[in-house]
Amino acid sequence: MAIKQNLGIDFCGVHFENPVMLSSSPVSNTAEMISRCFEAGFGGVVYKTVGLDNIKIIHPSPRMKSFDYQNKELVGLQNVEQTSDRPTVDNFKDMEYLKKRWPNKVVISSVMGWKRNEWHDLARMSEDAGVDILELNFSCPHMTVEGAGMKVGQAHALVQDFTEVAFKAVKIPIIAKLTPNITDITEPAIYAKQGGAVGITAVNTVAGLTGVDLKTLTPWPNVFGLGAVSGFSGPAIKPIGLRAISQLARHPNLKLPLSGVGGIETWVDALEYILLGASTLQITTGVIHYGYRIVEDILEGLAYFMQERGVAQLSDLVGKAVPKLVSPNDFDLSRQGIANYDLKRCIGCGQCHIVCQDAGGQCLSWDAKERRPVMDQSKCLSCMVCSFVCPVSAPPLITYKEVPNKPEILPPVSVL
Ligand SMILES: Cc1cc2nc3c(=O)[nH]c(=O)nc-3n(C[C@H](O)[C@H](O)[C@H](O)COP(=O)(O)O)c2cc1C
Repeated sequence: MAIKQNLGIDFCGVHFENPVMLSSSPVSNTAEMISRCFEAGFGGVVYKTVGLDNIKIIHPSPRMKSFDYQNKELVGLQNVEQTSDRPTVDNFKDMEYLKKRWPNKVVISSVMGWKRNEWHDLARMSEDAGVDILELNFSCPHMTVEGAGMKVGQAHALVQDFTEVAFKAVKIPIIAKLTPNITDITEPAIYAKQGGAVGITAVNTVAGLTGVDLKTLTPWPNVFGLGAVSGFSGPAIKPIGLRAISQLARHPNLKLPLSGVGGIETWVDALEYILLGASTLQITTGVIHYGYRIVEDILEGLAYFMQERGVAQLSDLVGKAVPKLVSPNDFDLSRQGIANYDLKRCIGCGQCHIVCQDAGGQCLSWDAKERRPVMDQSKCLSCMVCSFVCPVSAPPLITYKEVPNKPEILPPVSVL
């Protein structure tokens, strides 16, 4: 049964029919592609980053490398793709077409200049093309031409200056896309705000290296015998994206609408970004993995969740989990628990016993005859590593249980 729930939301003064967008990348490269993503149900798009033609863009070849883990493909993705290599004017014509063809969808132009006049001109061209919002790309970690992308995002004065140049050039709302490759992402956000940004997008790719080609001993992506640290994206970076969004949401002086990016593939990922402060969402690697149809599951899942919880508007969920996010030194350490076993469903694999011995508190011994773990509750560290390896799920066999008045556990003592 299809659920009809209103997923509309306002972001930087612009109404979105739903919060899910393509992020700026090869998935948002042309009007033809973006038209298909709109047909699939996306509420908006951030167009592939556009620069001026004076900088000749040539993409390294190959430009991507999948990061697979065991049998799971595309857990992450390394890329060295540059900004758009299409003529500037063609890109803006595509944006103009999209806005006319899809008036109810949100089109965001993403731009990257090198000098002040370039940021100015790109902002003007964006506004002339009729886009709803301008996103400033201060965050690509692997530009082949020095002095742009992440290098700007790490230099606070430049973030403020270039934002200000764009802000003075146009009337449309400006958002800054920030790099996670920095100690404190809230710092450039504040500078962007001072320059006139009314929203923040986080995150661009994390600087990473997926491995080494063992045939040729070349680090990936092995561009004719050479590798490079470059942008890493996909599910593996979701914890970094969530960390960034929550830090931006919690900052007392920022208070800007946030667009969350990084590892979103499912409605649960989307919801987690919303609960931690994002009011719109952006996706690339999920689309590279599954195509534009990924949006159907996300919209349906969000709608079901809202209906089940009686949530009238999506905006009611934005930042809902943020007040519960504290520094670890604010935890209530007087409350403690243990692992709780439903042994009726145990299959006797012994994984819990092995990890408890080698990585936990040695609270489990092994009844070899019955093939069952035997627990000494007083030694359980509540680290829960046993639950991570137990293959019995839905519902999990091992759960966490608070134990009032739990005696203090002494650290394990070596007798060797
Ligand atoms: C191949 C590729 C090209 C990208 N190009 C751009 C770009 O031109 N501009 C930009 O702001 N971000 C670019 N990104 C970053 C994405 O927009 C996004 O921030 C990042 O991939 C994290 O989201 P994800 O995990 O959903 O992929 C690119 C990412 C990939 C994988």
